Amino acid sequence: MSLWIFPITLAILFFIYKSRINKVPDGLKNVYTLTIYDRFISIIKKRGPDQYYHFIKKYLERDGFIKIWYGGRWFCLVVDNAIAKDLLSHPDIFPKLMLDEHFPNSLIARYYGVNVVHSNGSVWRRYRNICNPAFKSLPMHFFIEIGDKLMEMLEKIDNKPIEVRDLMHRFTLDVLGKAAFAIDFNNLEDPNNVYVTAYNKVQEDIQNPYFIYFPILNYIPFLNKQRFKRVEELDNKFDKIIEQKREALVNGNTENNRKDLLDLMLKACEDPENQNLSNTELRHNLGVFMLAGHDTTASSLATILYLLAAHKVSIINYNFYIYVANNQYHLFFIQDVQQKAREEILTVLGDDLTPSAEQHKSLKYLNMIIYENLRLYPPIAILPARVTTKDIECCGNVIPTGACIQIFIYGIHHSSKLWKNPEEFLPERFENQLREYEESGSWFGFGGGSRKCLGYNFSMIEQRIVLCLLLRKYEISLTPNSIHKDGLKIDVAYSGTMSPLPVELVFKRRNE
Ligand code: HEM
Repeated sequence: MSLWIFPITLAILFFIYKSRINKVPDGLKNVYTLTIYDRFISIIKKRGPDQYYHFIKKYLERDGFIKIWYGGRWFCLVVDNAIAKDLLSHPDIFPKLMLDEHFPNSLIARYYGVNVVHSNGSVWRRYRNICNPAFKSLPMHFFIEIGDKLMEMLEKIDNKPIEVRDLMHRFTLDVLGKAAFAIDFNNLEDPNNVYVTAYNKVQEDIQNPYFIYFPILNYIPFLNKQRFKRVEELDNKFDKIIEQKREALVNGNTENNRKDLLDLMLKACEDPENQNLSNTELRHNLGVFMLAGHDTTASSLATILYLLAAHKVSIINYNFYIYVANNQYHLFFIQDVQQKAREEILTVLGDDLTPSAEQHKSLKYLNMIIYENLRLYPPIAILPARVTTKDIECCGNVIPTGACIQIFIYGIHHSSKLWKNPEEFLPERFENQLREYEESGSWFGFGGGSRKCLGYNFSMIEQRIVLCLLLRKYEISLTPNSIHKDGLKIDVAYSGTMSPLPVELVFKRRNE
């Protein structure tokens, strides 16, 4: 008899779970469900957002979204661009799902806390009011200083393959260290720097796919002891920096022309309109800048460098190639985008090594390349979840109040309803149409509405500076046996981000 108790209890629990806890709301009944099994297979097969998209594309095209049961809630992954536009234009109707609400007392909630990315309403407005002016008046010298270091490194390895995904990560992390708190992480030369090692370990813990897919693991004490200890150690490092900055500000020891984000945020707190930020609030905001500001730009630079290497024609200017994706053949023209970008840089900059603010505006073709790259390979492929406070109708189905909505940016950027030849790299699409694409909800490279990326300009300047430095001096090529020679291979990501698998490229010095 006792042998039967276990399966009977399991069956009863399963019945309660299906009928009560994850009961499918009527409006979602006909919408495709991505099951736990599908997600498990995605981990095993290491699917990136591109493969994930092709896996569910037919349901997305049919209904505009699919649903996922996760952490006790229904999540809707949406590619309908009208809903995406509505959602980003009305942050008060679609507030962000807060970390401490979804994963109370988890590592991620503890590390990021409440900050400008993870907050809503008046709290978000207060942070944004303090951060915005800081970003606007940030000087540019650190881009150039770290850019020079990058060039010195490349000088030493002229003409030999180098892996650029990691290189760009090290570069952007050094830039952020300087920009955020004037600390030289020196990660380009020393990958074992103490700050970087501590930061990377915490990121590894936060991105651990098992803890993401099975959130219950966050609440098993013995699995979390060391993880929390590592966060505490990193927090202590940040707190020390903040204290030193506060002291320097009181003693008048900051150099006027070399202010960093932390100085500028502390300064903004002196404005009687703004309420002072506590050390914890400053730390949570700086923590999120590190995440939002370094991985994104690093991925973007790595994919652009790949595209420039793949769109280089040495003998004739135009060429064909056949690309196989999802068992379909695509015939593409190859343009010499690399040479065209280089010519623009040489014309606009002349002998200058780095562009001035005015020259940045004149680098139109380079901007088109950056926007088109963000369309093809958006570093944030899925936006953080919002909770809907009203029912949303989509293709005859209804996303109910209380469900979470995630905008699938990669899906929108690759939709054949919105883009002609969506898989093709065509910077010309962005000749004058950026605003049009943003207004129609076809392009969300930097998000949209009042919560558009705070680091938009920061990242654009950083990307242009790196590309100007590299293209002036080097011809960039794929290695002969590159794993990417038939198209860029994307790495698996568990939290909505997108980056390539390691990309080896050859930088050959040009004959100037
Ligand atoms: C290529 C580089 C970048 C891309 C593709 C990118 C993309 C985005 C996107 C899509 C959003 C909207 C998120 C949402 O609506 O939930 C966003 C927001 C944000 N980004 Fe970026 N970003 C980049 C670089 C940066 C940099 C360099 C920083 C800072 C140093 C930064 C800081 C932020 C912050 C603080 C927000 C939140 C804004 C708010 O909610 O008010 N980003 N970014």
